[in-house]
Amino acid sequence: MNFLNVQEAIDQRRAVRSYTAEVPSNEVIAEVARLALEAPSAFNIQMRDLVVVRDTEQKQKLFDASGQQQFLDAPVVFVCVGRSEVMPDDAEDILGAERVAGIGGIRSRMSESALREAGLKDALLLAGFLLVAAQSVGLATSPTTGWDEEKVKAAIGLAGRSDRSIGLVVAAGYPNEAPTHPGRAANRLVAESF
Ligand SMILES: Cc1cc2nc3c(=O)[nH]c(=O)nc-3n(C[C@H](O)[C@H](O)[C@H](O)COP(=O)(O)O)c2cc1C
Repeated sequence: MNFLNVQEAIDQRRAVRSYTAEVPSNEVIAEVARLALEAPSAFNIQMRDLVVVRDTEQKQKLFDASGQQQFLDAPVVFVCVGRSEVMPDDAEDILGAERVAGIGGIRSRMSESALREAGLKDALLLAGFLLVAAQSVGLATSPTTGWDEEKVKAAIGLAGRSDRSIGLVVAAGYPNEAPTHPGRAANRLVAESF
């Protein structure tokens, strides 16, 4: 597999909503997922999951949840899911019993909305890594938040789950368009001069 370096991947990434018929190999998808899941998370308890959707029926449901054509057209759609249980079942394997007790104490005092927000932060950072990782192996992506959250959850088998939230839904495939850089405002960098 050939990779762009990080600078190239960030500079070349653009929101791309049209894809060729070429389907990324399992190897490519697995590598993008692996790199995305290298994203850091609060306490390293990884309160996010990455769901890979390739099934036509599921993609149709994502379209129905959003009206976004790229979910139908893309060979793969990644759904970045936030988790908000106090502690995941595998926390002890990840952290060891002592740290689980400490972190569990902190998280058990958090409100439901704070737990949801923490899961979304982990999910969105995962999504950011995913966009760059996908670009680095030649895949173009369309990051989205324009959908009905409950319908997206239903599309991926999480109907009614109050302990799950949706951060970003990302369509991906080999690019069939070359959008220009839409530009960035200069005043979003707040710092003393370099
Ligand atoms: C959080 C977020 C939500 C977005 N939601 C949508 C969306 O629902 N549909 C869509 O077509 N593009 C969506 N976009 C893509 C943006 O419009 C696009 O990233 C932005 O215009 C900058 O262009 P660039 O990604 O090519 O640099 C979203 C991007 C982000 C980061």
